[in-house]
Amino acid sequence: MIRLDDLRARRREHALQRGINPRDVDLLLADLVGKSVAYIYAHGEILVDPAALDALLARRIAGEPLQYIRGKTEFYTREFLVDNRVLIPRPETEILVEAVIERAPAGGHVIDIGTGSGCIAISIECERPDLHVVSVDRSVEALAVAMKNRERLQSNVALAASDLFGSVSGTFDLIVSNPPYVPLAEYRELAVEVRIHEPRMALTPGPSGTEIIERLLDEAHARLAPHGRVIVEVGYGQDETIRSIATDKRYDVEEFLPDLAGIPRVVVLSAHAEQR
Ligand SMILES: C[S@@+](CC[C@H](N)C(=O)[O-])C[C@H]1O[C@@H](n2cnc3c(N)ncnc32)[C@H](O)[C@@H]1O
Repeated sequence: MIRLDDLRARRREHALQRGINPRDVDLLLADLVGKSVAYIYAHGEILVDPAALDALLARRIAGEPLQYIRGKTEFYTREFLVDNRVLIPRPETEILVEAVIERAPAGGHVIDIGTGSGCIAISIECERPDLHVVSVDRSVEALAVAMKNRERLQSNVALAASDLFGSVSGTFDLIVSNPPYVPLAEYRELAVEVRIHEPRMALTPGPSGTEIIERLLDEAHARLAPHGRVIVEVGYGQDETIRSIATDKRYDVEEFLPDLAGIPRVVVLSAHAEQR
């Protein structure tokens, strides 16, 4: 056993030399001690076992994402369990959650297509308990993670295994999704950390990157309640392509919502009036 402040200083230096953010060391230490990072800063005198930290740090240096090593991440102020069965929730997806919370009519019906960890659906339902939220994923492995998150966060979201709308009935005021949207060629160029560790089905739908969005828009016409909307996250630089696909498929583009870098990230669509 060695003093925490000694171990922390040495392993932070080691991490930095290998291109790893030294803060990862603090977070892993906090998890091992079962306390907050603030506690780690304030209690350098406690004794810890270096072997446990070194095992976790070796995985990080080998390229495993910190969130999978810790088994959790934060999204929209809540802690979600994550592992390699689900995409790690990204901060820009919080824009989608915000857009839904602001636009959902009181007591409305919402479906989240491709729920992964459940981060979108559960966040929406926790913030707006008046809503009836259904979430689906084609991956039963992902649904197992979403179920655990639903339980831990005491959410009432309904979860189902489904290829898009295939196994669900009814119509919805809001159809929301962060679908896989990375074109196959770009997927092959992604950082190893993403490509090797995160599920391929969560990232790329095929060569164009718009395959799932196109199918979703085709099927959504029959699933939208009158005056309903489709709210979808889109990839970097995909806004013009999505605008033209949506127009071809008889949707009005109400707006694109930008992320913090000003990049159009979320599109809000409504069906053409004659479709309603
Ligand atoms: C980009 S991830 C989003 C996960 C989560 N909603 C989030 O924002 O972190 C896309 C999800 O869609 C699921 N998916 C892919 N194709 C699908 C399909 N045809 N029907 C339903 N879900 C699908 C994947 O398994 C994956 O969980």
